[in-house]
Amino acid sequence: FHVDMNADEADKGTYPFYMLKEVDEQPNVMRKLAQTYLSEHGVPQIDDKLIKAMEAADRLYIVGAGTSYHAGLVGKRLFEKLAHIPTEVHVSSEFAYEQPMLSEKPFFIFLTQSGETADSREVLVNVNDAGYPSLTITNVQNSTLSREATYTLLLHAGPEIAVASTKAYTAQIALEAILAKALGEVTGQIVAQDFNIRQQLGLVATGMQAIVDEKDTLEKIANDYLMQSNRAFYIGRGIDHAVSLEAALKLKEISYVQAEGFASGELKHGTIALIEKDTPVIGFITQAKTAGLTRSNLQETMARGAKTLTIVREGLAIDGDDLILPDVDEMLMPLLSVVPAQLLAYYTSLNKGLDVDKPRNLAKSVTVE
Ligand code: G6P
Repeated sequence: FHVDMNADEADKGTYPFYMLKEVDEQPNVMRKLAQTYLSEHGVPQIDDKLIKAMEAADRLYIVGAGTSYHAGLVGKRLFEKLAHIPTEVHVSSEFAYEQPMLSEKPFFIFLTQSGETADSREVLVNVNDAGYPSLTITNVQNSTLSREATYTLLLHAGPEIAVASTKAYTAQIALEAILAKALGEVTGQIVAQDFNIRQQLGLVATGMQAIVDEKDTLEKIANDYLMQSNRAFYIGRGIDHAVSLEAALKLKEISYVQAEGFASGELKHGTIALIEKDTPVIGFITQAKTAGLTRSNLQETMARGAKTLTIVREGLAIDGDDLILPDVDEMLMPLLSVVPAQLLAYYTSLNKGLDVDKPRNLAKSVTVE
């Protein structure tokens, strides 16, 4: 298949690993998406036919694997909030063999960085057989899932070489936000009309830059905190829970730390039994509605000896918080909160002397089911 890249973009330059370069590219990817899909005044520039097809649907089904599935979990919140359309998210390898009951007029969204994941393609083949409309959101033009879906939107993130996906995840979320706004405006949702996405993506880009400029701090935390343990927990509620799953996956993939992402309220129903002295527990606190609850869940783990770390949106920060993220609209906070988690995983892997870009047992694109 054809890969759209030029020599410059695929060169890691002075970076020791592609992953670090790709983490650093994220502010530019945000700007590129805004330029490509928004007018100067912030009006989404998305194919009318695609929006009409989505408008005709009574439910969206987002399908993906790995990191793309995690981007779908954030997308669900965006489509439901901005476009007011019920949205389900499914792991492609599960959906393919145990199809959930579908609504009368489903519309499918395939999230896939490579456009080649066999599990996701299997679902698309079934969707096409049934005659349902679909959209593939991918980073690779002319990839299989792009060719076979009714519509395609490109991520324009530039080639992603490191096995652990970073900029494709944030690009997928940003593009889902643009699409949700476009759909919500057409269906007359006030939240969508009021959502100044151009300005917000600008703030996200600046915020991401501020975080990637704090590499020294993150490397130190990775060394003093994560390197000391062979397991870790990421916790959060709602959209923070979605990010905690991706944060844990990054750590597992490249540093081989056994990490789990948890809905923080669910910890006490079992998993808290695993907390012992010095177990790292990292909490995401970016949503006003659940900030207090996640804080008390963190305290419950501290009382059992956990070493906690907080990753908090500035507007919700209190004395003693560890990593403070710039404020953007709460719906877009995953675009910022994932970045320190990417860097913590990166430095943990690097300082263990592992091959960050090519972790054992993993492939960039999995073309078997
Ligand atoms: C592989 C990669 C993951 C990726 C997943 C889905 O397992 O190692 O990083 O998230 O495939 O890939 P896709 O290209 O469909 O997004």
